[in-house]
Amino acid sequence: MNANECRCQRLTPFLCCVLLTGIFLVWSKMLKTEVVSNCFKGLLNSELLLCYWYSKLYYRLFLCRCETTSLSVCLAYISISFPLLKSKSNKFRMGILSLISGRAGPSGFGSASTAQQISDSIDASDLTIIITGGASGIGLETTRVLATRGAHVIIAARNTKAANEAKQAILENHENAKIDVLELDLSSLKSVKAFADSFKALNLPLNILINNAGVMFCPYQLSQDGIEMQFATNHLGHFHLTNLLLDKMKETAATTGIEGRIVNLSSVAHLYTYEEGIRFDKINDKDSYSDKKAYGQSKLANILHANELSRRLKKEGANITVNSVHPGLIMTDLMRHSFVLMRILKLLTYILWKNVPQGAATSCYVALYPDLKGVSGKYFVDCNEYPASNFATDPELAKKLWDYSQNLVKSL
Ligand SMILES: NC(=O)c1ccc[n+]([C@@H]2O[C@H](COP(=O)([O-])OP(=O)(O)OC[C@H]3O[C@@H](n4cnc5c(N)ncnc54)[C@H](OP(=O)(O)O)[C@@H]3O)[C@@H](O)[C@H]2O)c1
Repeated sequence: MNANECRCQRLTPFLCCVLLTGIFLVWSKMLKTEVVSNCFKGLLNSELLLCYWYSKLYYRLFLCRCETTSLSVCLAYISISFPLLKSKSNKFRMGILSLISGRAGPSGFGSASTAQQISDSIDASDLTIIITGGASGIGLETTRVLATRGAHVIIAARNTKAANEAKQAILENHENAKIDVLELDLSSLKSVKAFADSFKALNLPLNILINNAGVMFCPYQLSQDGIEMQFATNHLGHFHLTNLLLDKMKETAATTGIEGRIVNLSSVAHLYTYEEGIRFDKINDKDSYSDKKAYGQSKLANILHANELSRRLKKEGANITVNSVHPGLIMTDLMRHSFVLMRILKLLTYILWKNVPQGAATSCYVALYPDLKGVSGKYFVDCNEYPASNFATDPELAKKLWDYSQNLVKSL
């Protein structure tokens, strides 16, 4: 080996390390805001160590020198999990270790559980369920599993052609599945109202509403109603839809005696939002717009909405629960605006990702599982209750968002 080759061999891992450190630091910056003492704190504490072992791992893999690979992987896992083991809260000590290993939590399920598994013994034939965005990704798998358990599922989709194709694909394997498609564009309050009217005209009961649809990291744009697109689609459309369907849900719960359930699809991204949580006075501000923070803000709004509605329904004595979930990290069309970034992220954090059947598990768990009777105003990750951020658990902020959203809907 000549001197140049030798220098090159020494330089490559160093450059790999620098590159990966950069990527990890950008990523950790994304997560740093409002990070609480759960798994992400563990991840951040150990990011540099992790970065080192990852770079070493990739370097070895690239050069097909795998003799230290297993050691690197082991140390990477330990560096992630060690801070978790120091976590103060026993109840919520699921963390990344469980995410990676798939170990079941207190519910008996974990990150490796699929929607099919959690609903194995459940008969949903007396339930009518609306799911927004139920024609693709996590929503499609949720629709499939709920329909195969006997539920009548109404897919609320903006692209009815794709939704009808999804319906046909499910019917091919499950000919008795009861699925209907109705048009809904959450970014237009007019469309939301038209959807609610069409649904009510069908004279069906409504037991469960799954607010699943969403957009992520879109470049700055305004909805048809003139509201920043991620806030309009992910939060405001669902806020309006839920309010329009609430009487139907209360009536169904009262006449059937079956507990109604509302499930909001939020995300771990609720941790990364604007400094003030929700930018009430700058919701449409283009100059300070951040596609990542706007997504985090809308996902924070999903939890706040669930918590405030839960509080109101408890006060009324309505037999309806409202909870929010983080489905996990799953490669779906949601990533369309950040395809390259998410691919790189997935490559670097492969062990933290789930597949679609696992991604639909928490929604199905919260929507169907009998043990959750009466559980409301909670946040779930990997089919287990989990602590949300300080913003997400602030009742004042939840009330403020409720009033703000109501005024916004009235004014449009
Ligand atoms: N995938 C993840 O890693 C992840 C992580 C955390 C949270 N989540 C949340 O999980 C939910 C489902 O995401 P996914 O990964 O399954 O993404 P997806 O495959 O892109 O599904 C999102 C669905 O929402 C629909 N949608 C978007 N805008 C809409 C609008 N204006 N009106 C009506 N429907 C609309 C989409 O319809 P089109 O097909 O017409 O666009 C699509 O069917 C989202 O709320 C997301 O924020 C996902």
